[in-house]
Amino acid sequence: MATAKANVGDTPPNIVVGVAGGIAAYKAVSLVRELVLRGATVTVIPTASALKFVGVPTWEAISRNAVPTSLFDAVAEVRHVALGHNADLVIVAPATAHTLASMAAGLAPDLLGTTLLATRAPVLVAPAMHTEMWEHPSVVANMATLMSRGIHAVGPESGALTGQDVGLGRMAEPEDIAEAAWNLLGAAVVSDSPWAGKNVVISAGGTREYLDPVRFMGNRSTGEMGVSLARAAVARGATVTLVAANLEVALPGGIEVVHAPDAASMEREMVARSAEADVVIMAAAVADWVPVETHSEKLTKSETGETWSPELRQAPDILATLGAHKPSGQLLVGFAAETSDDVATRESHARDKMARKNTDVMVLNQVGPQVGFGPVETAVTLFFTASPQSRAIEGMKSSVAGRLLDALLE
Ligand code: CTP
Repeated sequence: MATAKANVGDTPPNIVVGVAGGIAAYKAVSLVRELVLRGATVTVIPTASALKFVGVPTWEAISRNAVPTSLFDAVAEVRHVALGHNADLVIVAPATAHTLASMAAGLAPDLLGTTLLATRAPVLVAPAMHTEMWEHPSVVANMATLMSRGIHAVGPESGALTGQDVGLGRMAEPEDIAEAAWNLLGAAVVSDSPWAGKNVVISAGGTREYLDPVRFMGNRSTGEMGVSLARAAVARGATVTLVAANLEVALPGGIEVVHAPDAASMEREMVARSAEADVVIMAAAVADWVPVETHSEKLTKSETGETWSPELRQAPDILATLGAHKPSGQLLVGFAAETSDDVATRESHARDKMARKNTDVMVLNQVGPQVGFGPVETAVTLFFTASPQSRAIEGMKSSVAGRLLDALLE
């Protein structure tokens, strides 16, 4: 099957989620949410039976998009083919025995049916049904037909089904369907991406500096941005090493992960791994100060007294070290996390850091009590040593990451 326009992280991918009438429709709500969080524009097309399980208001609220339900709505927009034409990917979750049969026969009884026939985008089905139905020769034959046409499947899995039943037929978990979807979108961009074959080293997360065996000084970084960059780089065909400090987010497949929980190990690993890299991105929040002494036993209040001032010294500036020994041809990218409310102050700090640390690019992002941490919307500005122009990118971190990578190698 031909792949349509592919754009993971470039502009947000357009995903149609067809929902058929099975109890697993309630899990498709989490799938839609996951896709939206990853930055996709999602249009949900529920079948009439799906709406008996989950209603239109839920789909509209979760997808943040209008939900078309009938072939006869907005006929002037030729919606029965437009949704399929504009899609980068169509997912059917849950795919019931009835819907799989309808797809295999090429039927178009409703908006989901016409969309599936009109699209040239990859199609991913997540079957869900009772074990006996899944193993029935007609379902087996329909799946074989769909596979032979290049349709992709994720699941079903073994586990608890409706009622007392346990067995094969449970819909794949929403995160697994989303990951399969992302891989399909990514596969379409890999071959012609300038990132294909590049050796990329990315640091992510926040370091922790221990005062004693149980207490540390850390920061609020979850690793979301660094991991999103790693995911986007892999999707573009890069070989990625992630130097990870205390991540609080799930990792994508296909990357090498090196654990570096504190500033000293982060420095060691980044210096070692960066020597051969084409691109180095320092997205981790590294401690600026580390304790001079780490106590081997848990400190007690009787030892410290009423007040206590642990002695701190400056941590190694890893990015500055990488900048000072940058091999020729390597692209070095830093992040400047700035808290000032004043744009000019933030920008001048970022440019100053770019010069001081000898990076090619500095990515400015504003952080504060309510902004900047976790899987949230973000706004970054890129500054380039080679150009006076800057570049602003806004959106969910997952989508900003892809566009940021594209801007780096433009
Ligand atoms: N960085 C680093 N090593 C450190 C501190 C920061 O490599 N010990 C890197 C960060 O990963 C980031 C960049 O330097 O890419 C800027 O970090 P930031 O915390 O914004 O700036 P600082 O270097 O700490 O500068 P300042 O103290 O002036 O805020």
